[in-house]
Amino acid sequence: MAIRNIRVMGDPILSKQCKEVREITPRIKELVHDMLETMYEANGVGLAAPQVGVLKRIVVIDTTGEDPLILINPRILESSGEQTGGEGCLSVPGKTGTVTRPNYVKAAAFDLHMREFEVEGTELLARAICHELDHLTGKLYVEKVEGQLMDTEEYYELYGEEE
Ligand code: NI
Repeated sequence: MAIRNIRVMGDPILSKQCKEVREITPRIKELVHDMLETMYEANGVGLAAPQVGVLKRIVVIDTTGEDPLILINPRILESSGEQTGGEGCLSVPGKTGTVTRPNYVKAAAFDLHMREFEVEGTELLARAICHELDHLTGKLYVEKVEGQLMDTEEYYELYGEEE
């Protein structure tokens, strides 16, 4: 396993469309493990493959620090409700902005054995799923920020820590 370099906003790869994964090769497995290691090392709750320079529909998420979720070819099946809160991204270091997302999301994805499964989440997990899936179509959360994108420290001084 290895820590990969995280691409930052301004890198053209972050605005490109990702391709479906057709089969799980040793390279895909290595990529997924590297993505998890890279996410944990950066203290993130999610990471999408284009953030490490790979245009494939792969996302890793861990909102609790002990429950990694690997989503291959994910798609949202259902969403409902609304939450408005602070959001950040490892590709936009040191920044936070207010984004409104669904409060509940149900998604389908494949695992590393190409078995399809469903995952549902509320609050932070719902937010993370939406945020990471946006990366797969070349979208960054900064386009959805209400008000100003701020320095993270300044943001939480103003609005307080959430969750
Ligand atoms: Ni992100």
